[in-house]
Amino acid sequence: MTVRRVLVLNGPNLGRLGVREPEIYGDTTHAELVAMCQKWGEELSLDVEVRQTDSEAELILWLQEATDARIPVAVNAGAFTHYSYALRDALAQVPRPTIEVHLSNPASRESFRHTSVIASVVTGSISGFGVQSYALALAAIASCLDE
Ligand code: DQA
Repeated sequence: MTVRRVLVLNGPNLGRLGVREPEIYGDTTHAELVAMCQKWGEELSLDVEVRQTDSEAELILWLQEATDARIPVAVNAGAFTHYSYALRDALAQVPRPTIEVHLSNPASRESFRHTSVIASVVTGSISGFGVQSYALALAAIASCLDE
């Protein structure tokens, strides 16, 4: 089977995984998450590249890159999820499959997290399974590409 490229894009504060509110986001560090995503990707014949940025502009540039190169994306936009229309507009251009990922379940948390401005422009959303949310997102992308 040919190996398909996938971008996993992590937004603000996700570089601090492992030390940031571990009771909500778990003990896995971002470096460990990168290694896990690559391993899950190999099992699904996906060539997974994981990037993290705290910058809205950089995240948008990466989405534009994915659009031009037609690379499927799984994105955890962090707090940008809840208010960034610029991110929403960039994500709307990325060819599907596109997956919105969250470690926690934003719907069960503070009310400002109940709105996702990106949910309507992605193929689907996976939330609440900790780092396993990423495994599920990669499996969803592989399944869409296999169709
Ligand atoms: C998050 C949920 C967001 O509300 C929050 O701002 C994050 C992380 C998650 O993965 O659960 O930074 O996207």
